[in-house]
Amino acid sequence: MALKSDAADWGSLAKFFHWTVVLLILVQATVGLVMVALPKKPNVIAIFSFHKSLGLTIFLLALLRLGWRAFDPHPLEPATMPRSQVVGAHIGHALLYTLLFAVPLSGWLVDSASSLRPLFWWGIVHVPSLTGGADKQIKAFAEAAHQWLFWTLALAAAGHAAMALVHHFFHRDNVLHRMLPSADVRNAP
Ligand code: HEM
Ligand code: HEM
Repeated sequence: MALKSDAADWGSLAKFFHWTVVLLILVQATVGLVMVALPKKPNVIAIFSFHKSLGLTIFLLALLRLGWRAFDPHPLEPATMPRSQVVGAHIGHALLYTLLFAVPLSGWLVDSASSLRPLFWWGIVHVPSLTGGADKQIKAFAEAAHQWLFWTLALAAAGHAAMALVHHFFHRDNVLHRMLPSADVRNAP
C-alpha cells in the first residue's frame, strides 16, 4: 500500500491519521463523559490529566494530518456522484476538521482559565496557558463551549459515518472501501 493517496485510493498515512483519530476520539469522549460524572475527589485529577494529554495528542494529530493533506492528493469522487453531493461532502469534511481543532482548543481554554495549573503534556512537556491566569468567566464560557462543540462533533461524525454506509450499501461505490485500513483499491482484482 502506497504512503501517498492518488486519484483512486487513500494512501496509508491518510488512513492511519483517519482511523487513529477516530479511535482516540472514542476513548477521549468516553473518558470525558465519565470523569465529569465522578465525585470531585483528589483521585479524579489523574483522570482529568489523562483526558487533557490525550486531547492535546488528538489536536497534534489533527495538525499533522492537515499538514500532510496539503501535500497529499484527494482521491476523485465517484463519477456518478452529483455535484450537490460532492459540495455537501466537502462542507461536511471542512466542518469535521474545524471541530477537530475547536474541541481540543476549547478544552485547553477550560484548563487555562482554571486554577489547576501548571499543565504538563503526559507529565513531561509544559503546556502554556492561553489566558495567563485563572478567570471564572472565561472558564464558564469555555466549559459550555467545550461541551457544545463536543456534541456538535459527535453529531457531525455520526452523520458522516452514516453517509459512508449509504455510499457502501445504497450507492454501492468504493468510497468506504478505499478508506478501510486493509483495503487496497489499486490492486483490487
Ligand atoms: C478531541 C478532543 C477532546 C474531546 C473529544 C473531549 C471531550 C470531552 C467531553 C465529552 C467532556 C465532558 C463534557 C461534559 O459533559 O461536561 C470533556 C470535559 C473536559 N475536557 Fe475535554 N475533550 C477533548 C479535549 C480536551 C483537552 C485538549 C483538554 C485540556 C487540555 C480538555 C479538558 C477538559 C476538561 C477540563 C473537562 C471538564 C470540564 C468541566 O468540568 O465541565 N479536553 N471533554
Ligand atoms: C470521530 C469520527 C470521525 C471523524 C472526525 C472523521 C473525519 C473525517 C474527515 C475530516 C475526512 C475527510 C478527509 C480529507 O478529505 O482529508 C474523512 C473521510 C472519510 N471518512 Fe471519516 N471521520 C470519522 C469517522 C468515520 C467513520 C466511523 C467512518 C466509516 C463508517 C468514516 C468514513 C470515512 C470515509 C469513507 C472517508 C473518505 C471520504 C472520501 O473518500 O471522500 N469516518 N473523515
